[in-house]
Amino acid sequence: MRDQIYKDRHTKIADFAFDQSVVDVFPDMIGRSIPGYETLISISGLLVTKDLAADGRVYDLGCSLGASTQVILDQCPHKDIKIIAVDNSKEMINQAKKNIKDPRVNFVLEDVLNVPIRSANAVVCNFILQFLAKDQRVIFLEKIFLGMESGATLIVSEKIDSPEYISTHEDWKKVNGYSDLEIEQKRSALEKVMLIDSESDHLQRFKSVGFKEIAQWYRCLNWASYLLRK
Ligand SMILES: C[S@@+](CC[C@H](N)C(=O)[O-])C[C@H]1O[C@@H](n2cnc3c(N)ncnc32)[C@H](O)[C@@H]1O
Repeated sequence: MRDQIYKDRHTKIADFAFDQSVVDVFPDMIGRSIPGYETLISISGLLVTKDLAADGRVYDLGCSLGASTQVILDQCPHKDIKIIAVDNSKEMINQAKKNIKDPRVNFVLEDVLNVPIRSANAVVCNFILQFLAKDQRVIFLEKIFLGMESGATLIVSEKIDSPEYISTHEDWKKVNGYSDLEIEQKRSALEKVMLIDSESDHLQRFKSVGFKEIAQWYRCLNWASYLLRK
């Protein structure tokens, strides 16, 4: 379904929430908002599955409708892998469960800050860190690090605070059919709930947590993805 949530002028802009109205249009919304989203998801799946053991354990944190989970399932032939896909929006998790019926996946309705991470061979955090309180981000990454096996992979994808690309990103959204009003109203809705970090904030945090390999493997305008290894 086409995203028209901010098409008409709202008298009051409520904070953005991953509720049923967003669930209904989410694939269209994210595809028209994040440059290269499909490529990023597909290739992050390949990075995760490349060395995944036949009984590998993967976490998809902030899974939404399970796009990353789905590519990992599609790209991994092993029937004994296990994916724990977590989101705190019950509308997202309900729809994800309807869309993906595979015994290798366990969808969990939970705050990612509370979910235990154990014996992880890979963890995917695609566009979730930016929705956590700033002071929780390092704690969250430390928890993930502790729950990862040695040599395990972490993918972190985020919008990056890089003012030089803001207007081109908005132009790209206009090319994709969003109007100035839609862009402005969505920006207001996200203002308090999606707080983005700079590239150097991310890199410093990854280092402080202790990751031994840190590489930016994807970048388009103000969107990036990092491959980290314990
Ligand atoms: C931008 S979406 C993620 C997109 C998804 N990873 C993908 O690539 O399709 C952010 C998701 O994180 C979830 N989320 C935000 N804060 C969360 C939290 N504290 N715990 C669990 N999920 C959270 C939201 O409900 C939403 O589904």
